[in-house]
Amino acid sequence: MTIVVMCISLLEFKDTAENRLLVNQQTLFQLKPPSGKFIHREKQHNDLVIQLSPILQNQAASNLFIYGFPGTGKTALTLDITCKLETEAEKRGVSLKTVYINCEENKTDATILSSTLKILNPDRKIPRVGWNRAKLIDEFKEYLNREKMNLLIVLDEIDHTLKQSGDDILYLLSRINDFVSSRVTTIIISNDVNVSNYIKPRVTSSFGRNKIIFTPYNAQDLLKIMQDRINYCFKTGVIGEGLLEKIAAAETTKRGDAREALKLLYYCALVAIEKRLPTIPLNLFEEAQERGESEAYTGIVGALPTHQKILFLSILLNPKRIIPSDNIYKDYTQYCHKYKYTPLTDRMVRNFLIYFSDMGLIYADTGWLKTLKKKSKRITLTMPEETKTNCINRLLEALQ
Ligand SMILES: Nc1ncnc2c1ncn2[C@@H]1O[C@H](COP(=O)(O)OP(=O)(O)OP(=O)(O)O)[C@@H](O)[C@H]1O
Ligand SMILES: [Mg+2]
Repeated sequence: MTIVVMCISLLEFKDTAENRLLVNQQTLFQLKPPSGKFIHREKQHNDLVIQLSPILQNQAASNLFIYGFPGTGKTALTLDITCKLETEAEKRGVSLKTVYINCEENKTDATILSSTLKILNPDRKIPRVGWNRAKLIDEFKEYLNREKMNLLIVLDEIDHTLKQSGDDILYLLSRINDFVSSRVTTIIISNDVNVSNYIKPRVTSSFGRNKIIFTPYNAQDLLKIMQDRINYCFKTGVIGEGLLEKIAAAETTKRGDAREALKLLYYCALVAIEKRLPTIPLNLFEEAQERGESEAYTGIVGALPTHQKILFLSILLNPKRIIPSDNIYKDYTQYCHKYKYTPLTDRMVRNFLIYFSDMGLIYADTGWLKTLKKKSKRITLTMPEETKTNCINRLLEALQ
């Protein structure tokens, strides 16, 4: 088995230091736009301000449910508004604490509660193991009874918790104000638009009433978002004519994601730096787009658990572009033996294939297969050749 090495000309620091297109690349990915302006989010801004304002009168606000596709500014705008709310509360002498929890890192009720307690009361030592859910709830209620304050909890990426642990934490938070002397308001955020399927009716009445939807951006919005940010990231006049328009148009056809548009702009800059160019011309777009796609794929592939890595490698190393799904299990078991792992069941492998298809790594359908001379389930690899090579290299490295 050979590892394919790509030919890349080596850069010296003098090339990158002298040919500086980027003034400050961090600002390109900064959560809060450096200008402080959220393009095309006036409605969501106002909704949040109106909904949260009862807190400034020492009342709990209604719980909020924010959803929309990835990269539509949910986290950035919510954190900006909660920050403004904190400032206003302080001015008015209203006691307010806000807690931000990312549920991808805190998937269970227990981790959400213990992280919340750690933020609220860092001096109180919570044993790493030992406190069960009931003890954590008691501690949380005790704290809220003692402090008599306003608490705003933001549970971002809540779909991770709902899928793994159900909606018990939301049920608890929807009732908490009946049992404590503080006023608790909760905001949940999700980029899975089907998330309400995981919420039972007992919680929908509290979290389903006030929804704020973040719609995908159109080309005009994405263009404005990039135009607003480039002055903080790039030297004046380095962005080629028509480049931002091209990026905006390309991203709108996918899912109107501002993060992806900004990332694509960054890849254009990287390609220009590698080519030692003084500007970032439009004709770099295709190469930058391929680079971006390739890195997205290798990122996903690199994060797969071991058996999925072995399975995907066996698919990538199959010389056929369209593979009958009957052959896949056999190939997978061969690679398991090669890497000294006991193969998982056929059924599990079929589930992995569904997951790969959902992630866009493969395309699965039923169709005519010449080799078998019959209709059969088949999978097709859609990624470009260079991306495939990068993924193979990444998997071979990981499985060594
Ligand atoms: N309206 C906007 N104006 C300026 N920048 C924006 C806007 N919307 C999003 N961005 C920028 O896009 C990036 C992604 O935003 P954010 O992380 O808030 O998206 P999200 O909706 O929370 O995505 P995800 O669902 O993946 O968590 C951030 O860098 C943010 O500053
Ligand atoms: Mg987010």
